[in-house]
Amino acid sequence: MALLPILCYPDPKLHRVAKPVAAVDARIKTLIADMRETMYEAKGIGLAATQIDVHERLIVIDVSEERDQPIVLINPELSWTSAEKHLNEEGCLSVPGIYDGVERFDAVHVRALDGDGQSRVIEADGLLAVCIQHEMDHLMGKVFVEYLSPLKRNRIKTKLLKAQREDAR
Ligand code: NI
Repeated sequence: MALLPILCYPDPKLHRVAKPVAAVDARIKTLIADMRETMYEAKGIGLAATQIDVHERLIVIDVSEERDQPIVLINPELSWTSAEKHLNEEGCLSVPGIYDGVERFDAVHVRALDGDGQSRVIEADGLLAVCIQHEMDHLMGKVFVEYLSPLKRNRIKTKLLKAQREDAR
């Protein structure tokens, strides 16, 4: 397994739209293992392939306390969303140190292939539902800060670019 570098906002590669995974083959299985390791190492609850500069519809998630219930979503599609939406505080491994409120559906049903290529439907609410919507946005090239006001977004951009320049020294 290998740790993969995570793209950092405002990297334009985060805005690429992912293509469907063509086949759940050995390459994809290796990628899943590497993404899972990268997510755990970074102490994240979800990671989309877009964030590691692979533009295919693949997500790993683990919202469990014990960090032992990984979920793999390949080619995910929402098949149902609740009428109710709520504001939740979100963060993102690609936007380090920034947390802000985003409105999401309270509950969703998502159809996806699992890590063995089997089709399944996950019925999610609470943190898992929020995480699924956040990660599926990544696959569409959308980062959560794009829901915030332009003023806030520009502040975040400036702050992260400054931090990245300092890291590069
Ligand atoms: Ni994210």
